Amino acid sequence: MYRTHTCGELKLSDAGKKVTLCGWLQKGRDLGGMTFIDLRDRYGITQLAFNMEVDAQLCSEARKLGREFVLQVTGIVKERENKNLNLTTGEIEIIVEALTVLNEAKTPPFTIEDTTDGGDDLRMKYRYLDIRRNPVRNNLILRHQVAKQTRAYLDAQQFTEVETPVLIKSTPEGARDFVVPSRMNPGQFYALPQSPQTFKQLLMVAGLDRYYQIVKCFRDEDLRADRQPEFTQIDCEMSFVEQEDVLNMFEGLVKHLFATVKQVDMPIVPRMSYADAMKFYGSDKPDTRFEMKFVELKSDQTDLTFGKEFKVFDNAELVVGICAKGAASYTRKQLDELTDFVKKPQIGATGLVYARVNEDGSVRSSVDKFYDEAALANWAKAFEAQPNDLLLILAGKADKTRKALNELRLEMGSRLGLRNAANYSCLWVTDFPLLEFNEEENRYFAMHHPFTSPKPEDIALLAEGKLDKVRANAYDLVINGVEVGGGSVRIFNKKLQAQMFEILGFTPEQAQEQFGFLMNAFEYGAPPHAGIAFGFDRLCSLFGGESSIRDFIAFPKNNAGRDVMIDAPSAIDEKQMVELNIAQRAK
Ligand code: AMO
Repeated sequence: MYRTHTCGELKLSDAGKKVTLCGWLQKGRDLGGMTFIDLRDRYGITQLAFNMEVDAQLCSEARKLGREFVLQVTGIVKERENKNLNLTTGEIEIIVEALTVLNEAKTPPFTIEDTTDGGDDLRMKYRYLDIRRNPVRNNLILRHQVAKQTRAYLDAQQFTEVETPVLIKSTPEGARDFVVPSRMNPGQFYALPQSPQTFKQLLMVAGLDRYYQIVKCFRDEDLRADRQPEFTQIDCEMSFVEQEDVLNMFEGLVKHLFATVKQVDMPIVPRMSYADAMKFYGSDKPDTRFEMKFVELKSDQTDLTFGKEFKVFDNAELVVGICAKGAASYTRKQLDELTDFVKKPQIGATGLVYARVNEDGSVRSSVDKFYDEAALANWAKAFEAQPNDLLLILAGKADKTRKALNELRLEMGSRLGLRNAANYSCLWVTDFPLLEFNEEENRYFAMHHPFTSPKPEDIALLAEGKLDKVRANAYDLVINGVEVGGGSVRIFNKKLQAQMFEILGFTPEQAQEQFGFLMNAFEYGAPPHAGIAFGFDRLCSLFGGESSIRDFIAFPKNNAGRDVMIDAPSAIDEKQMVELNIAQRAK
């Protein structure tokens, strides 16, 4: 037997016991006649003590050991003189009687402690050493718990986990496909699934009723902190349900996860239409941990800015702002910083107008030249501003201005400390538009995917060609401004599905070629069905209080889509290319 106990479990009540432990040498300290070693395993750290006077040979052996050596020790548990109450095992130490070096180790390239001196790249290259560190390992354990609790909830609700294939045909869901050449079918390729969307719908036609899968998905898109080329979804589908049933079922899952993983009692998740989310937050995934809603000073419904010769506002389609509570004390320098922030190319505003509400209720603005006391007082009223509040206002084309103000709102939320990772605010965003127009390709795309059902009351608009006005039975779950999940009620009628493909610019032949399998299945008694998929990595990173999903993936890719540890992707040799029919044999 390698060990009798782990490094995280021995307590004062174990004093006097003879134990054997295994682990890695975290740190050694030589103090005159004594040598101490911190022995670490997944469960904790236990202090080992070697006494020069008791066993000089063993003690000098211990002094020669290096960091990360793998050790096995046998000794007696003893109460410590200098207790460390921050450690579970901090009241005891092991008086070592026998020591075996199970393996030696090179000096690690960074310190393996909670805070490390290793930079991102180095840690990724030696990810197996990084995972020895508590914060990284704890993230993986958290991930395991989220998966386990997801299975427990869905199992209790009669969902069946079914595996769907990984080598499939491409499904158009917005991103680019990763493709795999087929050796046996020259010139043909499989695609890796962007999601199991069509398969889960076929499982509904197959009568499975409630399906889920914790499943890898692959999308060849540009990477960000919350995007990986391969990521995991909790993918779900249900039959004989309406949108309301799906929202209730998965609100239940979210509540269950918060309760069991975070010990947080999540209240009823509020709902907001896509139109309201855009109007009040300029985003379809608003961070609702804080209020700071948009207030329009000039739009197609109101105008509190006109007739004062201020061209920027007069020429703007939309003048809209936010009220930052208590921020009137912002200095000139801070306001300049905010102006620079909104003018960054990726934000794209041309400038920032501000107004401070003074202690006595009077308002001073950066556009005092144009707007008198009375006009500014009207603005303050529209914002429901109080003394000491700061109004930040942008103007321009409606969509672009809303987008920029969303960024400014998030920035102000961060600056004012309103976006604490330990607080959670969930939101359902509903009634998404069915279609969005793509200027470049001069055609409509499905905003969610082509299998999403229009709202029954909006179906007539399709025939009338009012495509922009059609809303979908589609919904997203947003937590703290992160899109954690998305889904929809599906089209289950072959005719409506064919009409959708036509609107999306597919000829009947193309639709048959790409989606014949689904449309044909719909002819054999497809039940009404709906579903959702959650970004599992994103959910874990929210629970773990981090913004990067990489921290919750054992072996993630970097921003260039590379695994720097195994050095992938990599070139393959010519013989392999020829075999796969993607290169000609050299003559
Ligand atoms: P959607 O494309 O909205 O829907 O994806 C569902 C959820 O998956 C997460 N996600 C990602 N996470 C990490 N890296 C990525 N590259 C990435 N892309 C998406 C998001 C997102 O909300 N089949 C539909 C679902 C359905 O209709 O049932 C789908 O895949 O959190």
